[in-house]
Amino acid sequence: MLKIAVLVSGGGTNLQAIIDAIREKRLTNTEIVLVLSNKADAKALQRAKDNGIDQVCIRKKDYVNQSDYDHAMIDAIQNAGADLVVLAGFLVVLSSEFVTAFSGRIINIHPSLIPSFCGDGFYGLKVHEAALKRGVKVTGATVHFVDDGTDTGPIIMQKAVDVLDGDTPEILQRRVMEEAEWKLLPEVIQRIADGKVSLGKS
Ligand code: GAR
Repeated sequence: MLKIAVLVSGGGTNLQAIIDAIREKRLTNTEIVLVLSNKADAKALQRAKDNGIDQVCIRKKDYVNQSDYDHAMIDAIQNAGADLVVLAGFLVVLSSEFVTAFSGRIINIHPSLIPSFCGDGFYGLKVHEAALKRGVKVTGATVHFVDDGTDTGPIIMQKAVDVLDGDTPEILQRRVMEEAEWKLLPEVIQRIADGKVSLGKS
């Protein structure tokens, strides 16, 4: 059984996609052991509560320095017994200390086809604003392993989504979620649970 900790900051629709996939047995051999948010009012925390999943809010501002904050997160995830850390709309850049603690065991979903529209400053709606501004006709989503950089780790899977005339950032974000993100993330977790993907042999 793959035990996962899901890290969130906002709406938690990707968390919901994982919860639904487990409930509907499209995602097997996987258990969410913790939902960790950096925002107390994240809707994702309510989704965890509604589904009887342990949840915790850990905010950087409550700690005197980065190291204490890192250790609070590392301890919470290790105490929950998680094998894999899933960043599902977690909009905090992780320190190298955190990444080292879970080396090769952190994945992230990003709402573009990396290496386009990624890196520092590209998150959430901003990614779709940039894609529309550049006029690309195809965008999508990427799930990748997390390394020390921002969106630079090895790519596991990607899914393309058409950009359509008249798209706003909000409309495009919704299409990328529906057609790519909500399918891709459970699929990648299933592959990891099945031992078909791991860092070094993906
Ligand atoms: C998702 O679109 C996710 O890909 C993105 O934030 C959104 C969170 O939505 N993540 C990033 O931009 C990371 N760089 P959700 O809270 O409803 O899952």
